[in-house]
Amino acid sequence: MIVLLIVLCIADGVLSQIRYSVPEEADHGTLVGNIAEDLGLDLTKLASRRFQVVPSSRTPYLEVNLENGVLFVNEKIDREQICRQSASCQLNMEVFLENPLELFRVEIEVVDINDNPPSFPETDITVEISESATPGTRFPLESAFDPDVGSNALRTYDITTNNYFYLDVQTQTDGNKFAELVLEKPLDREQQAAHRYVLTAVDGGQPPRTGTALLVVKVLDSNDNVPVFDQPVYTVSLSENAPVGMLVIQLNATDLDEGLNGEIVYSFSNHISNRVKDLFSIDPRTGRIEVRAEVDFEESSLYQIFVQAKDMGPNAVPAHCKVLVKVSDLNDNAPEITFSTVTESVSEKAAPGTVIALLSVTDRDAEENGQIHVEILGDVPFKLKTSFRNYFTIVTDGPLNREQADSYSVTVVARDKGTPSLAASKSIRVQVSDENDNAPTFTQAIYDVYVTENNVPGAYIHAVTAQDPDVGQNALISYSILECDIQGMSVKTYVSINEETGYLYALRSFDYEQLKDFTFMVQAKDAGAPELSSNATVKVIIVDQNDNAPVVLAPLGKNGTAKEPLPRTAEPGYLVTRIVAMDADDGENARLSYSIHRGNENGMFRMDWRTGELRTARRVSVKRDPHQLYDLLIEVRDHGQPPLSSSASVLVVLVDSVAEGRGAGDRGGTAKAKDGTLDLTLILIIALGSVSFIFLLVMIVLAVRCQKDKKLNIYTCLTSECCLAAAPAAR
Ligand SMILES: *[C@@H]1O[C@H](CO)[C@@H](O)[C@H](O)[C@H]1NC(C)=O
Ligand SMILES: *[C@@H]1O[C@H](CO)[C@@H](O)[C@H](O)[C@H]1NC(C)=O
Repeated sequence: MIVLLIVLCIADGVLSQIRYSVPEEADHGTLVGNIAEDLGLDLTKLASRRFQVVPSSRTPYLEVNLENGVLFVNEKIDREQICRQSASCQLNMEVFLENPLELFRVEIEVVDINDNPPSFPETDITVEISESATPGTRFPLESAFDPDVGSNALRTYDITTNNYFYLDVQTQTDGNKFAELVLEKPLDREQQAAHRYVLTAVDGGQPPRTGTALLVVKVLDSNDNVPVFDQPVYTVSLSENAPVGMLVIQLNATDLDEGLNGEIVYSFSNHISNRVKDLFSIDPRTGRIEVRAEVDFEESSLYQIFVQAKDMGPNAVPAHCKVLVKVSDLNDNAPEITFSTVTESVSEKAAPGTVIALLSVTDRDAEENGQIHVEILGDVPFKLKTSFRNYFTIVTDGPLNREQADSYSVTVVARDKGTPSLAASKSIRVQVSDENDNAPTFTQAIYDVYVTENNVPGAYIHAVTAQDPDVGQNALISYSILECDIQGMSVKTYVSINEETGYLYALRSFDYEQLKDFTFMVQAKDAGAPELSSNATVKVIIVDQNDNAPVVLAPLGKNGTAKEPLPRTAEPGYLVTRIVAMDADDGENARLSYSIHRGNENGMFRMDWRTGELRTARRVSVKRDPHQLYDLLIEVRDHGQPPLSSSASVLVVLVDSVAEGRGAGDRGGTAKAKDGTLDLTLILIIALGSVSFIFLLVMIVLAVRCQKDKKLNIYTCLTSECCLAAAPAAR
């Protein structure tokens, strides 16, 4: 404790001054000084002179014992409270004595002690420094405060020793100290985002007091890092036809920077193909690459996606990576069958191995999915032959027969080996073209044709038909008659045939009595090349008509009356004569029956109707047979429909002698009969001959005329009445 006594004597003696000093924070009762002693006052007279303190100058901090003049600390003095930062701090007090009045001024200086440490306004001080700040850059720090003054005031600052910063303590004009943080070494936020130091403020007291604060240096990011992909190339595999939206890859680039500087935006690189852009999408924020459209292995089995990642900071530099997408094959393509050449038709004559179609089979898938097995379906006479690679030919595999099957549907099935397997099929229709491998065949080998005689020339008599299973020209049949002679004449004068229809026509009126039957061959010929033909026999059988009356051959006599003798003595049953008749017809038409038509009124004769024998029925009697002769009319009748008859007149003459009558009668009868027969035969021959000749003549004329009329064939000619009518006119 320092007690300073200064006694100031004022000339008037009115005012004296005394000075003390007391340290702050002194306890109650601490002696500051004895005013009375120091002023040289008589202690015994203090009470009598009413020693007292001037009331207005009283201070609560100090008290004076009025009895002995001791000044002591009444209340703890805080210099900082009373005087704040003033360099000197003093309390004043006035005391006085009466009788005489003496006034004394007491000055008490409060001496500072280092009772306050320096302190920072905040215990945490944060300084933000960009990592791009260059060494030497200064960052002023908040000052600490020490209410003490003088040497007890803030003297300096200190900081934890570190590599990055040092402190530069400066004094302001008012004497205050402040520190600047000076960057010594570049910062890297990515290495260390915050630095923590203890900042210490030290005062000048003895011992010095300190105040600390936590200095946090926040390193502010600058965009000094590019994003980094963890791999330069990513390889992923993707099944083709993966659904849209499916994740291909989740890219993850990292940027050590923070905030926008570290916020990465993904995008496709500029040089990426448009196709890749169509197929894939990238999420700019997440780096997720997804399938955007259907990916087809057959289009490409590998896609390269170039991706760039760029942060959103200033002067961002993009980073790149490559994503290789390997597309794996699915069996999503069925084989395809393509016919390059198809023969429309194949000849039925074609040799086995004839190529009818060329086809190729492809499958766009790979490996097993694209391996194809090809076959022909069903039971057809065709087979597949491998040409080269995926080319096949369809060739005939066995003989063909258009008449059995005129076309085939050939179905080719191609099946790949994927699971599940896909198949495709295609059909072609192969026509089998006709070859003339079938001859026409007649419905019958032999045709028996019955034609009633006396037919109209030109009459239809029969039809022959042949069939040919081929088609077209190969089945176009023409009919003809093969040349041969019938009774010395060409068959073609007898019959004609319609080339197209096979209808047979008689060219002449047949006479059964002349020609009972004839045989010829007809031929059916197709129009193929070479043409094929076959023959059939036609037998024309002429059917008799009752067109001839019986002819009596015997007995014949002069003027058509035969004379026959009959002896008067003849017994009943005597054979008078025998009627011999002939009928050129046949059968019933020629079966004759004989009868007496007239002259046997008295029953003298009877006629055997079968044999024609004329016999007596009784004896000749004078009474019943008064006449010398019987004039008999004999009728000969055939059994045709209608029957024809002729008659003979026989004159039976009664004679006496048997010999006379018989001899003459028999001889003459026989001879005459012979003559008659000869004559009749001759007449018949001549008659028939001339009829034939005239007929032939008519035919020739007709033939000539028909040839002139070229359009008019013999068929129409003969069938049409007009032509027959025209024939005489032409002649
Ligand atoms: C990206 O990579 C970083 C570092 O390897 C990791 O911490 C983060 O989780 C990854 N993000 C994704 C989405 O994979
Ligand atoms: C048909 O007859 C003709 C003449 O006789 C003969 O040349 C030909 O070979 C015969 N055709 C057949 C198929 O028999």
